[in-house]
Amino acid sequence: MRIDLYCVMGHPVAHSKSPWIHARFAELTGQPLRYEPRLVPLDGFAASLREFINDRTGNARGCNVTVPFKFEAAALADTASERVALAQAANTLRFDLGAIHADNTDGIGLVHDLQHNAGVDLRGRELLLLGAGGAAAGVLGPLIEAGPARIVVANRTLPKAEALVTRHRALALLRNTELEVKSLSSLEVDFDVIINATASSLAGAAVPVPARVLKSGALACDLMYGPAARGFLDWAREHGASARDGLGMLVEQAAEAFHLWRGVRPPSAQVLAELRALLE
Ligand code: ATR
Repeated sequence: MRIDLYCVMGHPVAHSKSPWIHARFAELTGQPLRYEPRLVPLDGFAASLREFINDRTGNARGCNVTVPFKFEAAALADTASERVALAQAANTLRFDLGAIHADNTDGIGLVHDLQHNAGVDLRGRELLLLGAGGAAAGVLGPLIEAGPARIVVANRTLPKAEALVTRHRALALLRNTELEVKSLSSLEVDFDVIINATASSLAGAAVPVPARVLKSGALACDLMYGPAARGFLDWAREHGASARDGLGMLVEQAAEAFHLWRGVRPPSAQVLAELRALLE
């Protein structure tokens, strides 16, 4: 039987949970595939991708792409989804008869986790997205698609938030979502859902917003997990919000990639519970 080959390309990549997640998906769905981590030199993404596609077994079918290569992956692809066009970044590549198709499953992964695993209906809600880098760009389109009444994008460097919002203006109009840019210091009160897509806690910095942004009973979600998310999640809990890390998004973006590659939806909630138990 042919075993199809997938990988995650990144730098660093040793910490990645994706090989474990996809191995478990394959096991639970009976899909014959192998998925491995591949460390890519910082200046060698295109060459490493070619090398993987031309693997001597001829069985390479796709890959995930992580930091810092998501932008390069989007630019290199022959075809790309609408989501990639908006994010200008790709986390999932599929090899179709020699052509590279790019998608970005980060945002739908986040939305799926919030709606199905955390049980928060985003329709009609007020959302605050903190950050305007790659992580924020990956999730804004799908957040708009989820139908909130309003999304405010706030970032330390305002022009970056403005550029991100400008790219998403037409989609927001189409979906009837009010889309705004604010500086971190001019945020008003009361959001239902606050999503931290900044790297502030990684940098050891304080949460870049005042607690008044949290509506009573708000959900505060960090796109990171483990120690990198701790500062933000502690802050949210201290101020009465419910806190959610990015582990659910990680598993759900993987499930979307798996579906794109295999046409099969894996039991993501089960795998998320297993991974959480493993990490605790
Ligand atoms: P990523 O791909 O993880 O999003 P990035 O593109 O470097 O990484 O973006 C990092 C984000 O975190 C940016 O929104 C950045 O704000 P700037 O655009 O102003 O640089 C934000 N960020 C990083 N450190 C921060 C801090 N100490 N306070 C507030 N925002 C911070």
